[in-house]
Amino acid sequence: MSALNTFFYDRFMSGLEKACLHDWRTELLAEVKGEVLEIGAGTGANLAYYPSNDVRLLLSEPDAAMRKQLEKKVALIQRDDICLISLQAEKLPLDDNRFDYVIASLVCCSVANMDRSLAEIYRVLKPGGRYLFIEHVAAKTDSKARRWQEWLTPLWRKFAGNCHLNRETENAMLRAGFEFVKIQRDAMPDSVPAIVRSSIHGIAVKPLN
Ligand SMILES: C[S@@+](CC[C@H](N)C(=O)[O-])C[C@H]1O[C@@H](n2cnc3c(N)ncnc32)[C@H](O)[C@@H]1O
Repeated sequence: MSALNTFFYDRFMSGLEKACLHDWRTELLAEVKGEVLEIGAGTGANLAYYPSNDVRLLLSEPDAAMRKQLEKKVALIQRDDICLISLQAEKLPLDDNRFDYVIASLVCCSVANMDRSLAEIYRVLKPGGRYLFIEHVAAKTDSKARRWQEWLTPLWRKFAGNCHLNRETENAMLRAGFEFVKIQRDAMPDSVPAIVRSSIHGIAVKPLN
């Protein structure tokens, strides 16, 4: 993400946060506890939603400009249970079966390799561990929105930190081995451009066996 995009990121996202992301983040993150990894934490949009008890949070952001803003927000909330780090989702230098929760919001659209990233998330979760996700995804095949997504993605990703409009993220999660505890396939409100409106949010689990 360019420094300019990062500078405007929170402002650009504020309408979307009010329209739906605030509610989705609140609902999802309330249950988090134990050893927790957040991937692609960005400027810290999820920070305010983590419970204050029994959470040991490893917060990862690989982009230098975003991490700078994240560091400022982490310093402000003064929690000694948060550790900041820079990791690429495709190759996490972390032990197998370590985390109770992995969180990624609006990240699968941007990673260089979604299958490899999801395989890594799966690997570092404990059996029974939960992956909490919020993603904008490909619209229905043959819809007008999907045609626009296919057409615009090559250009869009150049200006929006490698964000792909057309990723079939739910299928990729299943390919990685996850089972869904809960998945909501929501459209973001009409105020959001149709090319980013299709979204999924919920809880996937790494099965016990
Ligand atoms: C659209 S932002 C989302 C930020 C934040 N999670 C949120 O909910 O607002 C996408 C994030 O994914 C991160 N990202 C992109 N490629 C990544 C990768 N390969 N591994 C880990 N994070 C990545 C970016 O640096 C950025 O922070």
